[in-house]
Amino acid sequence: MRHLKSAVSLWLLVPLAALLLMAGCGQSDSGTSSKSGTEKKAKSSYTIGMSQCNLGEPWRVEMNAQIKAAAEKHPNLQVTFKDAQNDTLKQRAHVEEFVSAGVDLIIISPKEAQPLTEPVAKAMDAGIPVIVLDRSVLGDKYSCFIGADNKKIGHSAGEWIVKKLGGKGKLVELKGLMTSTPGQDRDSGFREALAGTGIEIIFDADMKWLEPNARQEMESALARFNKIDCVYAHNDPGAHGAYLAAKAAGREKEMLFVGIDALPQEGVAYVQQGILDATFQYPTGGAEAIDTALKILQGQSVPKKITLGSRLFDKETIAQGGRELN
Ligand code: FRU
Repeated sequence: MRHLKSAVSLWLLVPLAALLLMAGCGQSDSGTSSKSGTEKKAKSSYTIGMSQCNLGEPWRVEMNAQIKAAAEKHPNLQVTFKDAQNDTLKQRAHVEEFVSAGVDLIIISPKEAQPLTEPVAKAMDAGIPVIVLDRSVLGDKYSCFIGADNKKIGHSAGEWIVKKLGGKGKLVELKGLMTSTPGQDRDSGFREALAGTGIEIIFDADMKWLEPNARQEMESALARFNKIDCVYAHNDPGAHGAYLAAKAAGREKEMLFVGIDALPQEGVAYVQQGILDATFQYPTGGAEAIDTALKILQGQSVPKKITLGSRLFDKETIAQGGRELN
């Protein structure tokens, strides 16, 4: 009986010891504190997991390229990229995989705000700092958010259009994915700038950031309205899709086309070619993400939010490399 008792207590002690050991490991991980919300001990090399929501658009290919180029300048950084192919569930799984793999830091550009909030919070709970890039999650359980001010960009696009149309006209708005923060902000900022003017939004639709959707929605708008003065699309692929639909209907000269992103090889080239009338730059923040990651990993404090600037490219400003928004 005594033997049995001690055998039982031994079995109880083994997991207890294992738990204590694990807790000890966790503690030895903590070093200098940072505002990132997690604590890290200096290491000779670090693994970063980058969760990209999709790579179907040039802008996201550019974001990954900037991250890769910036990370390559630091031989102590290894970046593993995962592409969720525009599938929210897949992206949730990717974040969880990074946590299980025990990466040192996660960078995420989430497809949608709400569904990615929980996996990001869980990574933070596991002691892994998370940098949220371009599209945000809900709340503030992450280390740092990096992105341009979408509300300001939307507002500036509205002001530009009001000026060009002389304060009145009929407009089509092709929205980005409205479950993502840039879509919401590019819409609300824009509508604020239009309030009280004579510009009427006669048609709006969620084209989910995708050119083929934008083209299809524009075909509907063209079929319903025989006069359209301007198309405001939340990104350049959307504006280009609308242009192609209008051109196919022989109506592209009737209206202005305004987009957002201003990649040199995409939106800026479209303005140069006379396809778009204006585009507003939306920097990817790839290089800034790596700079911030390094600071967090080295135990330095970083701001909770890093807001990137933007530039307007239209016929008047394109030759001088655009004009900074103020
Ligand atoms: C690419 C993209 C960009 C847009 C950004 C917003 O997926 O749609 O065109 O500016 O995402 O998050």
